[in-house]
Amino acid sequence: MKKKWWQEAIVYEIYCKSFCDSNGDGIGDLPGVISKLPVLKELGINCIWFTPIYTSPQVDNGYDVADYRNIDPAYGTLDDFRELLNKAHSMGIRVIMDMVLNHSSDEHEWFKESRKSKDNPYRNYYIWQPPKPDGSEPNNWGSYFREGNGSAWEFDEQTGEYYLHQYSIKMPDLNWEYEPLRREIYDMLHWWLDMGVDGFRLDIFTRFKKPAGFPDTKKEPDVLLDRNGFVVDTSMCTHVEGIHELLHEMYTEVFGPRDAMTVGEGAGVTSENALDYVCASREEVDMVYHFELANRRRFAIPPEYFRKVQTAWADLMKHNAWPVQYLSNHDSARQVSCYGNDGNYRKRSAKLLATLIHTCPGTPFVYQGEEIGMTNVTYSSIEDHNCCYTLGDYHSMVQLGKSPEEALAAVAPRSRDNARTPYQWNSEENAGFTTGKPWIKVNPRYEEINLEMDRASADSIFAYYRALADMRAEHPAIIDGDLRFWLTDHPDVIMYTRACARETLLVIANYTDNSTPITLPDELSAHAWHRELTNEPSSIPSLQRGGEWMPWEVEVYSMAN
Ligand code: GLC
Ligand code: CA
Repeated sequence: MKKKWWQEAIVYEIYCKSFCDSNGDGIGDLPGVISKLPVLKELGINCIWFTPIYTSPQVDNGYDVADYRNIDPAYGTLDDFRELLNKAHSMGIRVIMDMVLNHSSDEHEWFKESRKSKDNPYRNYYIWQPPKPDGSEPNNWGSYFREGNGSAWEFDEQTGEYYLHQYSIKMPDLNWEYEPLRREIYDMLHWWLDMGVDGFRLDIFTRFKKPAGFPDTKKEPDVLLDRNGFVVDTSMCTHVEGIHELLHEMYTEVFGPRDAMTVGEGAGVTSENALDYVCASREEVDMVYHFELANRRRFAIPPEYFRKVQTAWADLMKHNAWPVQYLSNHDSARQVSCYGNDGNYRKRSAKLLATLIHTCPGTPFVYQGEEIGMTNVTYSSIEDHNCCYTLGDYHSMVQLGKSPEEALAAVAPRSRDNARTPYQWNSEENAGFTTGKPWIKVNPRYEEINLEMDRASADSIFAYYRALADMRAEHPAIIDGDLRFWLTDHPDVIMYTRACARETLLVIANYTDNSTPITLPDELSAHAWHRELTNEPSSIPSLQRGGEWMPWEVEVYSMAN
């Protein structure tokens, strides 16, 4: 079947604030991105996902939108954006926007109106509830960012009611029950499509609907984090009844008729329930990215687990669904630090991880900096951190009796700030990101890890990503081939084939710090394999060499069928 463009694409996520600063104010911007488009073209990606660049007070770095139809002045203007879009398109690179539609900023005009009076025309754009008879919050839900007293409800003096905010106090949840709000959102999406954008990433789209009557959660408070009895319960507002009708309406009103690509942030989506959202015939969203492999709280992916998750998602393809492959993004720590080895084997393991996401079934999503093996950062003080989760969790831990050092050590390794340090372009001051003071401190490893040095080296990670992109373009089995794992009891080795009518690809990865002997199963060893790619260019193909595989060694072979 003819593929959709996004099934053959490689998506590159840009966190604009940390990508490239063109005017020395310490904040990455659109002219900065424009200046780097040629680099992205060389990398071989063909779609950019911009994290939110709209007007925003930046409480959550743009996920708090104050105007959905404008660009934040720190990033540039709508004209800069149009220029970027045209240039990208002329280079064969598509552009998708991050749509944050669960909530807006409290500085959005809608909210400013909404809070004015109970009969304001915008009142129902947000979710307001009266206090309980004793004046307390409408229920016991806790907010993800753990600000204030920890509740997901904030009291507003002006009208004497509470508004719901699942995230920051400054990010009130929008009321999707209210049709005029939905209309306004659909118009706005059309407006971006009219400008020429190719689709949308939908922020926490599984949480748009809230349970009727706002019942208390029965979940017990988390002893390490929760406060004042408020409980963070992800299940309360996720997959609530009616969410599918809502998404289908969006599809019929906007995405379908405009042929716009959509990828949802699959909070709560697993291979078990994914078909409800992404089975093509349901007409909801095209893809979701899930948290089963990459997870803010996970620091290893045992091969057995990798096989299980990949097999489950590949099975969904038989039901007309399309997976996403990624291991990190702006919400996680750095993949090479979590799932690879960012010390002695940084380059080799970065390439191994890249190979997995580019050769397993689905569309790979690359997050800026992965292509040069950027690592987690260690800051000496909580003052250097910015992420709302990190700060919220830290203060909550300190309040519950941990020392500041203990609390920092607990939150740092998984902080989203790890992924948000400025892009490391070269070994000049501030890694070449800005001539001013960067909005968040540069990772001190920039002198050793940066694009310029990487590209000049014989074992460049960037060049390897390019080779993976070329391989995807040349080998239909990567897009279409059936997935089958081999050596399925092996604790350290990930081995799989992707077979289509024309060819079979074979990927072999030694996913460990140790060298390991690998023997091909008989069924595979009977064939003559041609090596397509390796992360150890100096070595003889391991299948010919026999014996031990080096730590983190990966090879990709092919065979015509
Ligand atoms: C999503 C975004 C994250 C943001 C949150 C609230 O998880 O990826 O960065 O903080 O939604 O909008
Ligand atoms: Ca700037």
